[in-house]
Amino acid sequence: MSKHYAVFGHPVAHSLSPLIHLAFGRQTGIAVDYHAIDVASGQFAQTLLDFAERGGAGANVTLPLKQAAFALCDDVTERARRAGAVNTLVRNGETWHGDNTDGVGLVRDLTERHGLDLRARRTLLIGAGGAARGVAPALLDAGIGDLYIVNRTPERADALADALDAPGRVHSRYLTDLATLGEFDLIVNATSAARDGALPILPRSLVGRRCAAVDLSYGEAAIPFLAWARAAGCHDTVDGLGMLVEQAAESFARWHGTRPETDGIYTQLRQRDAVLVTAD
Ligand code: ATR
Repeated sequence: MSKHYAVFGHPVAHSLSPLIHLAFGRQTGIAVDYHAIDVASGQFAQTLLDFAERGGAGANVTLPLKQAAFALCDDVTERARRAGAVNTLVRNGETWHGDNTDGVGLVRDLTERHGLDLRARRTLLIGAGGAARGVAPALLDAGIGDLYIVNRTPERADALADALDAPGRVHSRYLTDLATLGEFDLIVNATSAARDGALPILPRSLVGRRCAAVDLSYGEAAIPFLAWARAAGCHDTVDGLGMLVEQAAESFARWHGTRPETDGIYTQLRQRDAVLVTAD
């Protein structure tokens, strides 16, 4: 039976992952069969089982299924356990092994593509959902300074801070207290707020000298936060396109044993993104 790969999500039709994985396959000479599968949360477990029975050997998982995927795994990597969310599934006999490559993808994009030194950066993480959970452990491992987490629903910020298990270094705060938190060197938007056209109100006082602002989304969804960041004087502004490509390369390496080069497809998607963003 030939091996299949897929990305599961809802909605997922506009996912760039199939394009990225096919490009990696061409580049490495590995025949890649990778499709997007749209599935609502309630049907995810059964759909994943059917996929495995048809020869599904690995999958990416995106919104809103990353926490559900974590629950369906028989074992997970340490970084997925700390995130409580899985974006990469590897079929292991009759079971699923789960990993989370989002955080390492983000750190690689920021440090290697954008040349940012993350060490000791006082960091604000806005959001405490699946995306925030995926990247927070890797940011801590990359050596950032104190991490402050704020979220619309404060209990989720508390839960994430607890799960990160780094007392004294990780702090949860209220969104309404942003004006009292001082200046940051790194601000990460991990909310899906822009998808509802509702960015939280962010005071300029958050922005320190040479502050980097990062939105984990890309395309239109990244525009409001990064526009705020530029206007507020952030030194660097980075969207999530590079992270998307880097997390895909990590997943590809898990499945096929070789890590593809990422600059070619990144440049291609960046040009395409510029066209899409300016199109309307
Ligand atoms: P994801 O995997 O993208 O993180 P998620 O787990 O649904 O998806 O989390 C979405 C994040 O965006 C959450 O932090 C959410 O805040 P809540 O935990 O309060 O729901 C945040 N978010 C979504 N819409 C928002 C809005 N309009 N204003 C502020 N935060 C918002």
